[in-house]
Amino acid sequence: MCHNQECLPAMAGSRRAFGRFLALGAGLTVLAACTPEAPAGAPPSSASPTASAPPSPPAATTASPAVPEPEPVPSPARKFSLTDPASPWLVVNKYRPLAPADYAPADLVRPAVATSAAGDAALLNSTTAAAAEAMFAAAAQDGVAMILASGYRSYATQVATYNGYVASRGQADADTASARPGYSEHQTGWSFDIADGGGGCAFQPCFADQPAAVWAKANGHRFGFVVRYPLRFHPVTGYYYEPWHLRYIGVEAATEMAARGISTVEEYFGLEAAPGYP
Ligand code: DAL
Ligand code: ZN
Repeated sequence: MCHNQECLPAMAGSRRAFGRFLALGAGLTVLAACTPEAPAGAPPSSASPTASAPPSPPAATTASPAVPEPEPVPSPARKFSLTDPASPWLVVNKYRPLAPADYAPADLVRPAVATSAAGDAALLNSTTAAAAEAMFAAAAQDGVAMILASGYRSYATQVATYNGYVASRGQADADTASARPGYSEHQTGWSFDIADGGGGCAFQPCFADQPAAVWAKANGHRFGFVVRYPLRFHPVTGYYYEPWHLRYIGVEAATEMAARGISTVEEYFGLEAAPGYP
């Protein structure tokens, strides 16, 4: 089990440290110890480090060759801004707040999908809404029930959401699950949370095993979505596994991430890990 801050700063720091983490699996023992207990049978993230024992050290009498530094993952051509909140490639994390902090999308719409959300929470930006409609329809075709559980949240709503977490769990634990105001993807309209509409696992780790989550993880890229906070990548994303939180980045980018086994947008875009607020 993880005990808050003792885990998250583990991968703080440079792109080099991030690359080392991803390519060599450094610190896996620490991660395994820190990662919240995964739901039984939860499929590992495609690029999640394997929780195997680290390689044995070389014999003491043998000169150990230097561990080669991995080549940086080439970043895709920057077709879209990584900082404009209206860009599908916006990367917002604990190091990268929204600018302006009170940004609100100009094109919020209500997608024609089943939802348990009310009011603004049933809204998405227009691009994400269209992609969500296509994805939900495809899931239904495959016999998978999927609903929109939580979409857009204004800055003011995020204030209330985050403060609620802090009140119930304390700030350190709140920061592993809820973005501070001005740091949430929900404020951009590019992200939303899914549920299955009937199960008892909504917003819980066991949702990872539900058909909606399994299907979204396997198929979301076809509609431009990624699971933004994958299992065991909290040292990169700053948040524990959220199998319900999908982020639109476009079909091309999401499909390339899936094909290359890249789990986080931080790695895909060549950005440093953001385990905690600076
Ligand atoms: N739960 C995600 C990190 C958010 O609050 O935006
Ligand atoms: Zn979410």
